[in-house]
Amino acid sequence: MSHNPFSEFMQRLDAAAADTDALLDGLLTERLVPGELARPARLLEAMRHAAVGGGKRLRPFLLVEAAALFGVPRGQALLAGAALECVHCYSLVHDDLPAMDDDDLRRGRPTVHKAFDEATAILAGDALLTFAFDLMSRAEVHADANVRLQLVSELARAAGIGGMAGGQMLDLAAEGRFEKKKLDEKDVTILQAMKTGALIRFGCRAGAMLGGADVTQSGALDRYGRAIGAAYQIADDLLDESGDPEAMGKAGGKDAARGKATLPALLGAETAKKHLGALVADAQSALEPFGEKAAILKAAARFIAERRT
Ligand code: IPE
Ligand code: IPE
Ligand code: MG
Ligand code: MG
Ligand code: MG
Repeated sequence: MSHNPFSEFMQRLDAAAADTDALLDGLLTERLVPGELARPARLLEAMRHAAVGGGKRLRPFLLVEAAALFGVPRGQALLAGAALECVHCYSLVHDDLPAMDDDDLRRGRPTVHKAFDEATAILAGDALLTFAFDLMSRAEVHADANVRLQLVSELARAAGIGGMAGGQMLDLAAEGRFEKKKLDEKDVTILQAMKTGALIRFGCRAGAMLGGADVTQSGALDRYGRAIGAAYQIADDLLDESGDPEAMGKAGGKDAARGKATLPALLGAETAKKHLGALVADAQSALEPFGEKAAILKAAARFIAERRT
């Protein structure tokens, strides 16, 4: 390992991003798999627009690096990571829809409903979500079907009513669309642990599942995943307030305009930054059982707090 874990981390993030992109590029083609009758070109193009050629690919990176702690072959972890990324990309397509956050720009490109149309964007999201489970259940992810079943089950829960989709519901409700409701810090923390934390935490847990981790190791990665999941949305909300839209590839200032419930809005940016710092420290200390081997994941926690994109 190089002497600078942060630059080593950046290289490994780039590598995970490139490998994930190549994998999704190869999977989202016209080639049918058993059970399929046709892949309509417009839907395929919309799915590719959402899932190929953009994004930091942080979730696949976390899954791959957590799995690497246990020596899991990279190909297995990358396929599981691609499945997770499909859920994330779907969540972004639907998050950007006019009925939700109504955004025009994502990853420096027009959002899917702008590049195509709303109905196609809804279907592209649906098809990416289901594609994720197609990928996660493939034998190449893990030889043991019990492990695959556990991955599928946990991904479903991380994505669904008690995870990302449920968190998105709370996020919209917090705008006051349905009834006036003032959220306190605890409410916002739960909302964010669901809408953003659940998929990030799943990435860390999935690495442990693939690696056959023991209880202590799984617990450590779970705690790390929870902390960086919470940190990730605080950083996103701080960037929404004061980041550079050009660098982020999406608009800024949207949360205040829509009255989103965020920790910076509730507590002020300075206090939110303190929370962020404490979460990074907790994430890093959670990894102590892994010693030097976890230097890359510790650097990832720092990146999450310091990122500009
Ligand atoms: C944006 O996610 C939405 C959140 C959950 C905060 P990312 O910041 O990971 O977006 P990409 O995948 O890099 O575009
Ligand atoms: C998105 O949160 C969370 C998702 C589940 C997609 P945001 O709505 O803050 O994400 P951005 O800022 O649009 O990327
Ligand atoms: Mg949103
Ligand atoms: Mg949004
Ligand atoms: Mg945001």
